[in-house]
Amino acid sequence: MNKQFDLKIKRLNNYYIKFFIIINMIVFTSLFLIILNEYEHRNNSALENAKNSFTKDLMFRKWVSSHGGVYVFPTKRTPPNPYLKNIKNRDLFTTNGKTLTLMNPAYTLRQLMNEFKGMYGAKGHITSLNLLNPNNKPSEWEIKALQKFENSNKLEYHEFLDKDNQEYIYYMHALITKKSCLKCHSQQGYKVGDIRGGISVVIPMKKYNKDFFNAIKKIIIIYIVFYILAIFGIYYTYKTLKESIVEQKKLYLENQKREEIMLTQSRNAAMGEMISMIAHQWRQPISVIAMWANNIEADVDMDELDDKNCKEYASNIIIQTQHLSKTIDDFKNFFRPDKSKENILIKDVMEDCLSVVEKSLQNNNINLVKSYENLTEVNIYSRELMQVYINIIKNAKEALLEKSIKNAKIVIKIYENENSIITEIEDNALGIESDVIGKIFEPYFTTKGVKSGTGLGLYMSKTIINKHLNGEIYVKNIDDGACFKIIIPK
Ligand code: HEC
Repeated sequence: MNKQFDLKIKRLNNYYIKFFIIINMIVFTSLFLIILNEYEHRNNSALENAKNSFTKDLMFRKWVSSHGGVYVFPTKRTPPNPYLKNIKNRDLFTTNGKTLTLMNPAYTLRQLMNEFKGMYGAKGHITSLNLLNPNNKPSEWEIKALQKFENSNKLEYHEFLDKDNQEYIYYMHALITKKSCLKCHSQQGYKVGDIRGGISVVIPMKKYNKDFFNAIKKIIIIYIVFYILAIFGIYYTYKTLKESIVEQKKLYLENQKREEIMLTQSRNAAMGEMISMIAHQWRQPISVIAMWANNIEADVDMDELDDKNCKEYASNIIIQTQHLSKTIDDFKNFFRPDKSKENILIKDVMEDCLSVVEKSLQNNNINLVKSYENLTEVNIYSRELMQVYINIIKNAKEALLEKSIKNAKIVIKIYENENSIITEIEDNALGIESDVIGKIFEPYFTTKGVKSGTGLGLYMSKTIINKHLNGEIYVKNIDDGACFKIIIPK
């Protein structure tokens, strides 16, 4: 029983170790996933920004391209495009003598990209593997991306790369040759649907990294706070649960000790009872022995002691001493300490018990009716059961005497069913009062006053039956008395 609490603590420890590991796994996996998610978010935002930048460039290009280029006044900044010299109407003259020159889409875009690159945070570049203008020369990365477009049907490509200890997103989108492009690019051999080139966008990741680290910082702080709270919570519930088990164990041990004390108390009481029974049964033979001894003394005084008388007196005394030793034999079983469990028939235990109390029942004119149907042995400490029987029979006897019942009787039935052996002990002492019957198995409850009862008899009987013999004990009132039912499992 004691081990049960140690086992409970062990189970609690195991449970909490598992719990702790699982909590940690959840915390760290979720933290890892959240950080991963933030990282992806960082990448996606940067990519989206690169795409926006490209879309804006494309829109602008499309607008220019949809007009077949735009005419501007040539300046130092915008000289007539030498690569358009094959195009007729590259330069126009207005009615008032001013010159206009054609800007092709790439030209406008290049100028836009070069002059306003700081304003959008993104650096765009239009390029191709087959250049019209060598100034549009692709970088190594752009060559790689353009080759990818040529060799697959992908139209965009991006990468995160470090340059001068700074991280950048490199993005490129392909430009497909349309019909409108052929006007100026057909002489390079392009057909509609060919990859003409691409626009690349390079954006520094500094801002996104900053946002990323800020977000992570916040998440980690929240996690640390909750983690500490959770650990404290877990530890606190663990401590409380463990303390309650330790407390239970303490209570249990105390209870056990108290029960042991009660057991010895009640055993001593039973022992006293036995001794008084022996004394009672010895009184008669001893007085008879004393009488014969008196006779011898008187005969000696009167010189009448002859051999024949002497022998008769002696044999009478021997008969009485046999009585005495028979009484001791009857009680012997009760005083024998229970060393180990034994296989025994319950009815034999009852017989042993009756050999002790039967005389005193007879002396008090109490009729004893027995019926046994008991063939199965059980493995028990028989003396403990005997103590219970004696206790119940003694109570019945006292009740019968107290109420001066005529035709007083005690009926003992022992029988078996499938799982258990049942003993019923009935009396006809008018039963137990209804306000008392619920309490008779409580410790220190007695109806007899301090002198004759310890109040432990039935409590100990219940303890013995429940805890030592794994059985059950009940009481109920029957027609004209009380019936105790004891069920011992087979
Ligand atoms: C009005 C004539 C004209 C039209 C229309 C035109 N381009 Fe160009 N494009 C040029 C010229 C000229 C250059 C080279 C000079 C420069 O960079 O300004 C060029 C350059 C380019 C470049 C840069 C690579 C290189 O060869 O220098 C790409 C890419 C490009 N064009 C794609 C297109 C696409 C796609 C279309 C159709 C949607 C198109 N162009 C329509 C005239 C034109």
